[in-house]
Amino acid sequence: MDAIYPTSNLFLSASLIISFFILPTAAAAPNSQLSSGQPLVDGATLISSDGIFELGFFSPGSSTNRYVGIWYHSFSAAAVLWVANRDSPLLDTLGSLTIARDGNLVILNGHKAVVWSSKVASLPSNETIAELLDTGNLVLNNSDATVWQSFDNPGDTYLPGMKVGLDLVTNVNQVFTSWRSNDDPAPGNFTLGIAPDQSTQFFIWEGDKPRWRSGRWNGQVFLGIQNMVTTYIDGFKLSDFQREKKLYFYYTRSNISHRYILMPDGVDRHLIWANNTNNWQQLWAQPNTQCEIYNRCGNNATCTDSTDGKSPTCSCLKGFESDNYGKAIGRCMRRKPLQCETNNGSTAGNSDRFYLIKGMKLPDLSYWDLDPTNDTQCKEACMKNCSCKAYSYQAGIGCLTWGRELVDIHMFSSGGNDFYLRLAGSEFGTNTMLSDHLL
Ligand SMILES: *[C@@H]1O[C@H](CO)[C@@H](O)[C@H](O)[C@H]1NC(C)=O
Ligand SMILES: *[C@@H]1O[C@H](CO)[C@@H](O)[C@H](O)[C@H]1NC(C)=O
Ligand SMILES: *[C@@H]1O[C@H](CO)[C@@H](O)[C@H](O)[C@H]1NC(C)=O
Ligand SMILES: *[C@@H]1O[C@H](CO)[C@@H](O)[C@H](O)[C@H]1NC(C)=O
Ligand SMILES: *[C@@H]1O[C@H](CO)[C@@H](O)[C@H](O)[C@H]1NC(C)=O
Ligand SMILES: *[C@@H]1O[C@H](CO)[C@@H](O)[C@H](O)[C@H]1NC(C)=O
Ligand SMILES: *[C@@H]1O[C@H](CO)[C@@H](O)[C@H](O)[C@H]1NC(C)=O
Ligand SMILES: *[C@@H]1O[C@H](CO)[C@@H](O)[C@H](O)[C@H]1NC(C)=O
Ligand SMILES: *[C@@H]1O[C@H](CO)[C@@H](O)[C@H](O)[C@H]1NC(C)=O
Repeated sequence: MDAIYPTSNLFLSASLIISFFILPTAAAAPNSQLSSGQPLVDGATLISSDGIFELGFFSPGSSTNRYVGIWYHSFSAAAVLWVANRDSPLLDTLGSLTIARDGNLVILNGHKAVVWSSKVASLPSNETIAELLDTGNLVLNNSDATVWQSFDNPGDTYLPGMKVGLDLVTNVNQVFTSWRSNDDPAPGNFTLGIAPDQSTQFFIWEGDKPRWRSGRWNGQVFLGIQNMVTTYIDGFKLSDFQREKKLYFYYTRSNISHRYILMPDGVDRHLIWANNTNNWQQLWAQPNTQCEIYNRCGNNATCTDSTDGKSPTCSCLKGFESDNYGKAIGRCMRRKPLQCETNNGSTAGNSDRFYLIKGMKLPDLSYWDLDPTNDTQCKEACMKNCSCKAYSYQAGIGCLTWGRELVDIHMFSSGGNDFYLRLAGSEFGTNTMLSDHLL
């Protein structure tokens, strides 16, 4: 397999991930279904009909708590993919998973008290059946309708076939949530999901704060993931969200061993099963460098990673300078006002020009202007609007403009995009213009 990312810590030992889980050995005959009156007790498991996925009770890491989860049955190294009772563990092995009288899928403790429920409306329990499908999706069916499914209740892992995203009608944004630690699947500090502003990018958030973003999708790659190549991600697609009213990304490829996991430390990892080593192989991880942390250098500033993994270099954008030289915290401010600003917004006959910066992870907070159909039109639309501070025309997207703060700017060591920054005409043709000012 080609190494896609040039950094050294890519192929981290997958055994780290693997050794966290102690799984029970299944004794019961393989069965993918659970019907009313046939509880699944701790120690027994369901196995999807093609033998790839397994559901049962397990204890994560060094914990002795019991949880109901789904993992791979067919791969020798364990990986928990979904957990039902994330924040309500059982303290002993007397629990069971069953279909309750109201038709819900429930976990009962040894005293037959409900510790977790699928919480759907009451249904005739004799017509309700749960099944672990070949996709790894646990579904609850009533008659012929699926009334609940684990794929709609995501944990920390994205699996092929999931449609986790932003509902454009209800505005509900489904997200993945990290575990608290490798010993505790309770919801942790980080979530991963689609940007709520429909900018077709992924974010990892720490609480409410952005931690990482993928950059916009151009139909083939996410622009903010350095050296992302189309071949590696082929089969990854954006939903037809105008029609479907739901924005999400999905796999069309059949390779079942792909998974993305949001780790307790907020790093998202793309792992795939490698038959030749009988282990998990990491294809990529984000954020993986200092500059991949959201807005690491602050507004109006670029972030360049050092090659030795130490602190990155933060520099003000061309035409901007720090108001606080030499201090730990400085703000980059525009050095010379735009002429259109001096002219009270008028752009007629002004001398403002665009300065090209190459190799960039384009800043966040862009607008998508639908009218321009080529680079020239995009430039003209931006130039005649004093609120437009920068533009970039991207194949597969179109005209992007910036009118708010310029945030999260990463200079890639290779690849990246062209960014045209509006500056006062007097910034051009002087030597001072070309010198960076460190923060
Ligand atoms: C389920 O139970 C109800 C009420 O007891 C009964 O009318 C119905 O026929 C049952 N359905 C099945 C599939 O057994
Ligand atoms: C439950 O519904 C799914 C479709 O959502 C279907 O693939 C599956 O076969 C059904 N299973 C049972 C046991 O009805
Ligand atoms: C599954 O993924 C592995 C690793 O990328 C690849 O070598 C293999 O060809 C894939 N199999 C299928 C059926 O796509
Ligand atoms: C999660 O946040 C808490 C409170 O800020 C902090 O103490 C803890 O170290 C964080 N855990 C991780 C894995 O970042
Ligand atoms: C790995 O093994 C699985 C199960 O035997 C098989 O379906 C798959 O095609 C194999 N992949 C590769 C890359 O050999
Ligand atoms: C970024 O630069 C603009 C233009 O000078 C300025 O108005 C803004 O306050 C700067 N942002 C920060 C956070 O310093
Ligand atoms: C600047 O423009 C605003 C709105 O376009 C207008 O109200 C104001 O009078 C103008 N000021 C000057 C000094 O021309
Ligand atoms: C951009 O599009 C306009 C309108 O379709 C066209 O007139 C112009 O020639 C195009 N410019 C370039 C550089 O393609
Ligand atoms: C001017 O540019 C800003 C920032 O790109 C944009 O939000 C606004 O809609 C534009 N105004 C017009 C009239 O095009």
